[in-house]
Amino acid sequence: MEIKIVENAASVEADILVVNLFEDGKTSVDLANKYAVEEDNFKGKFGETYLLPTYGNAPYRKVLVVGFGKKEEFCPDKLREATAKAIKKCSQMEAKKVAFAFEGVDFDYSEQFAMGAFIADYKFDKYKSDKKDKHVKELYIQADEEKIKKAEKIAAAMTFARNLANEPAQFATPTELSNIANDFGLETKIYDREECEKMGMGAFLAVGRGSDEEPKFIHMKYSCDNPKKRIAIIGKGICFDSGGLDIKPASSMLTMKDDMSGAACVLGVMSIIKEFNPQVEVHGIIAACENMPGGKAYKPGDIVTARNGKTIEIDNTDAEGRLTLADALCYACELGVDEVIDLATLTGACVVALGSHASGIMGNDEEFTHKLIETAKKNGEKFWELPLWDEYFDSLKSEVADMKNSGARWGGASAAGVFLKKFVKDVKWAHIDIAGTAYIEKPQKEFIAGATGAGVRTLLGYILEQ
Ligand code: BES
Ligand code: MN
Ligand code: ZN
Repeated sequence: MEIKIVENAASVEADILVVNLFEDGKTSVDLANKYAVEEDNFKGKFGETYLLPTYGNAPYRKVLVVGFGKKEEFCPDKLREATAKAIKKCSQMEAKKVAFAFEGVDFDYSEQFAMGAFIADYKFDKYKSDKKDKHVKELYIQADEEKIKKAEKIAAAMTFARNLANEPAQFATPTELSNIANDFGLETKIYDREECEKMGMGAFLAVGRGSDEEPKFIHMKYSCDNPKKRIAIIGKGICFDSGGLDIKPASSMLTMKDDMSGAACVLGVMSIIKEFNPQVEVHGIIAACENMPGGKAYKPGDIVTARNGKTIEIDNTDAEGRLTLADALCYACELGVDEVIDLATLTGACVVALGSHASGIMGNDEEFTHKLIETAKKNGEKFWELPLWDEYFDSLKSEVADMKNSGARWGGASAAGVFLKKFVKDVKWAHIDIAGTAYIEKPQKEFIAGATGAGVRTLLGYILEQ
């Protein structure tokens, strides 16, 4: 799909011209006002659509009126959603050329228009034998070219992340992730099992032991001259989470190919970062492995030692993400970066708390955490702060080691957060739990079911605003 900038979208010979209608307002096309608004009483409620043929009386063959709702409630998020809705309608009708004439919007819609269009255009059909090419090919709109270009790149990073997280675990293995990381043309180091052993990553390696797939610890680095800041982004990279010996019930295991969505997000960001050439140093880190119940699998009651020397009693092999992140956090903190952000499909408890609409965020620096919440909001994502109080460590106390990897069921997202905090040293850190947002089981707003690329927009937004 390509977005072309035009002065007057209504003059394009398009399959469909999309126009907007605010409640109690008018569209920019007389024909639509006459038939949709006056005769058919189309109100323009948010997200509703009305289709009208032009029978050769206009350069475009049809008009699609999209309801923008109440003008005072309209915002960039709604514009993105309405655009997505229009794109989906147009592709259902197999339109190839679509022009957009948005009127009366009192903010620059360029970026969110492009985001909505690209998110809605996404399909994961590589394994379908009859791929119907229903993609809209050309979009025409009056917009800010620079902003469209920027959104195109962010959307490409999202698509990259979504494809990876949607890819079945049989293909998206730790080795595959490391190969992908190696191909970005960044300074990249992949550590294999023996090297991780030498680095003392006993927590990460314990998780991967039950699988026949080799674990890989991935470190990508984007550098520039005189960076304003140095940031590390860590993605949970459990390529499949069976639960291990504390095996998951079938219904919970079904979507666990998505347990590397944090890693997919980091790879998405690193895939495009050079094209933005930001003035910050960015380290992308992934401890990739599978959590499987093989003969060598780690067991409940085992005691493992993380890179910082802390010992962990295994209470539940299904609380594996925090173990892999523990070693990744130690590693990141040693890089001497200013800030560390981890993204992880970490807890079912976070899904219970926030559902699929918001990611949970916790951090050790209020200003930093709140900055990320703001950045998420500006970039079309929702982060909601969960507490990271010491009390949540109570249930992680162990009789035999420095801590357990899981404890009480209640407050599980915060317990996981305080666990991670034990591996963070001398750095501003934020942990983002994307368990509910990274992969959705039903279509939601601009997204189809499946991977959403959660975190990509916010991380890139944050890196670019430095
Ligand atoms: N990957 C899961 C968390 C998850 C759940 C992600 C649902 C996406 C959707 C994680 O590894 C896990 O199994 N967490 C356990 C922790 C518990 C054993 C302390 C959980 O949340 O049940
Ligand atoms: Mn698990
Ligand atoms: Zn997991």
